[in-house]
Amino acid sequence: MDSAITIEDLTKVFDGFAAVDHVNLEVPKGVVFGILGPNGAGKTTLLRMLSTVLKPTRGKARILGHDILEEPIKVREVIGVLPEDTGLYDRLTPAETLLFYGKLRGMESAKILERSEVLLSLLGLSGKRDAKIGTFSKGMKQKVALMRAVLHEPDVLFLDEPTSGLDVMSAREIRGLIKDWASKGRSVVLSTHNMWEAQQLCSAVAIMDKGKVVSVGTIEELERMTKQEDLEEVFVHLIKGEAER
Ligand SMILES: Nc1ncnc2c1ncn2[C@@H]1O[C@H](COP(=O)(O)OP(=O)(O)OP(=O)(O)O)[C@@H](O)[C@H]1O
Ligand SMILES: [Mg+2]
Repeated sequence: MDSAITIEDLTKVFDGFAAVDHVNLEVPKGVVFGILGPNGAGKTTLLRMLSTVLKPTRGKARILGHDILEEPIKVREVIGVLPEDTGLYDRLTPAETLLFYGKLRGMESAKILERSEVLLSLLGLSGKRDAKIGTFSKGMKQKVALMRAVLHEPDVLFLDEPTSGLDVMSAREIRGLIKDWASKGRSVVLSTHNMWEAQQLCSAVAIMDKGKVVSVGTIEELERMTKQEDLEEVFVHLIKGEAER
C-alpha cells in the first residue's frame, strides 16, 4: 500500500505528561482519514507534530516520504493545515490573506488571484473578498482558514475540526471540498467530534484516548470488531472500555 503518512512511536510529553503516547499509524494516499477522541485525547497535539509546528519528544513521522524532523521545509511544501486556532489577521481581508500566504509559499500573484477567486466562489465568500476578517463570524473565518490551507493545492491536508461551529450549509460546503480533495488522489487527515461526519467522510479512522491510539480501521471493521451498529456506539464502547481498564 502506498502510504501518504507513516507515524512511528510518535510521542509528546508536556511536563512529564504524555499528550501523545507512542502513536503508530499509516495513512494511505487518496483517503480521508479521521482522528476521533474525547477532549484532551491528543488529536491536536498529534496534528501539530505532523505539521511540523511542534517538536516530538520521541518517535518519527514521514509525510510523502519526507521526515518531519529532518526535512520540515519539504514537509511544509506538500501539506496544507487548518489549525485548531485559525490565527488569521483581523485587519486583512480574505483576498489580502490569500495573497500574503500565497506569496510566503512562493506562488505567483496571478496564480494566487486565480485560485483565490475559485475558492472564494466555491465557499460562497466572493461578496466578502475585500471585507476585514475582524468583522467576520466564526464560520466565515473558518472558511478563510480553509482557503488558506488549500490555496497551493497541497497533496496532504491536516484539518483540525474543520466544521466545528459551522451552520448546516457551511459545513456541507466544507465537507464537499474535503471529499473532492481526496478523490483526486490527495490525502486528508481530520479530527472531528462529529461521528456522523466521520461516517460520511472517512475511509478509515483512528480512535485516540489519553494520548494513545485505542483502535484503527475502516468504520465497518470497527463496527464488526466491537459488535456495534454505528460509529458513535463504537466510540462509546471503546472509550468506556479504556476508562474501565
Ligand atoms: N502546549 C501545551 N502545554 C502543556 N500541555 C498541553 C499543551 N498542548 C496540549 N496539552 C495537553 O495535552 C493534552 C492533549 O491536548 P490536545 O489539544 O492535543 O487534545 P485534543 O484531542 O485536541 O482535544 P480537543 O478535542 O479538546 O481539541 C491535554 O491534556 C492538554 O492539556
Ligand atoms: Mg483539539
